[in-house]
Amino acid sequence: MTTTRSTSTSTSTSELTGLPHWETIPEDLPRAIAEIKAALRQRIEDTGRTVAEVIAEIEEFVTGEAADIEATKRRGDEVWPVVDYTDIENATVTPEALAQLRRRGCAVIRGHFDRAQAEKWDADVVDYVDSNHFFDTYAGPADDFFGDLEMSKPEIYPIYWSSAQMEARQHPRMARAQAFLNAQWTHESEGRTWFDPERDSLYPDRIRRRPPGADSGGLGTHLDPGTLDLWMTEGYQQHFRHLFSGDFASYDPWDAAYRTEAAQYPGSTMCSAFRTFQGWTALSDMANDQGVLHTVPIPKAMAYLMLRPLLDDVPEDSMCGVKPNRTFPATRKWHSILVDAVSPIPSVQPGDSVWWHCDLIHSVAPVKNQQGWGNVMYIPAAPWCAKNARYADSVREAFLTGHSPSDFPDENYEADWPNRFSPADLNETGRRGLNL
Ligand SMILES: [Fe+2]
Repeated sequence: MTTTRSTSTSTSTSELTGLPHWETIPEDLPRAIAEIKAALRQRIEDTGRTVAEVIAEIEEFVTGEAADIEATKRRGDEVWPVVDYTDIENATVTPEALAQLRRRGCAVIRGHFDRAQAEKWDADVVDYVDSNHFFDTYAGPADDFFGDLEMSKPEIYPIYWSSAQMEARQHPRMARAQAFLNAQWTHESEGRTWFDPERDSLYPDRIRRRPPGADSGGLGTHLDPGTLDLWMTEGYQQHFRHLFSGDFASYDPWDAAYRTEAAQYPGSTMCSAFRTFQGWTALSDMANDQGVLHTVPIPKAMAYLMLRPLLDDVPEDSMCGVKPNRTFPATRKWHSILVDAVSPIPSVQPGDSVWWHCDLIHSVAPVKNQQGWGNVMYIPAAPWCAKNARYADSVREAFLTGHSPSDFPDENYEADWPNRFSPADLNETGRRGLNL
């Protein structure tokens, strides 16, 4: 890449995008925000349209999608598409179902695993933590994301290397589903190949086990792909190039162009991997009114989130509340046309899996006196690409030593647990994912 030199203290203009960019967090954040906003406004106005006109076009689209979601709810139909795993395996998912998946940007895969398999994994997790006296040694939440939940036993277990998790991550049915989901994206564009849809990098994440009777405050509407880096680094400026020139019609949330290489600003909420979909696999029955995941199922809503800060009612030094090292909030104050479209997953059974596009707004509903367990293994689709290959190097080290992966707090509970999943238990998919 040819580009002008970039430092955190002074602005440089990218030869690739023509925009000021900061590959690390700017020291004078308010000034940098004002500077990028002015540059983006200018770029849009150079096309002969005002920012307000572009936002009005996006609003019209998003409002139409929100109305369809509302009408679907009123009819009593599921907003979330549901795909049977057997149809993925037999390549018999209908074009209509695929179109709906891409329209909503999320799906439940029914029967991804047998109920018996998922229930065995759930029991195996319990055996794994009990046999290692996890609850005697657990020191409390170590990160600031879930850290304000009061609990004696954790609901999020900072556990990564159980047999249950690794068996699920390297399972042929997981690889098949991930390849199917990755195929909804464009992995080749601009004359380049951005990722390999057939190979996953086994992004290790935690477990949630929320017991019957639990009260939980949930998590507000937010998104996970990044923070100010989405506007300020050269790679993301290239990824969002159509939006940044006000060309909403050309913006395709399924085109991976440039984002598998984009620089990210560090922070405790950062994910080092490119995930086509975030996901989890259910290990218990969960009714959809028991504190479950919701999304705003409109992938193109990202256009609104990215351009909304350019309107005049937002202070010059504000990106509608987006800050480094904080989750990207979607709020009624700035995004009221979106937040009412929030839609719960359908009720799920053990072995169903739940998936949502990496840029989708999502939340977890609060629950009081939860009925039944709420148990999941977080397993996303993180296909092989430059970014994920880099992270896989540190994942492999963490796997071999039983440490927490570097995206997560340095808790390392499993380092001396004798019964964690061993390298000898890896299959071809597992070895490929860890680049072993
Ligand atoms: Fe999230």
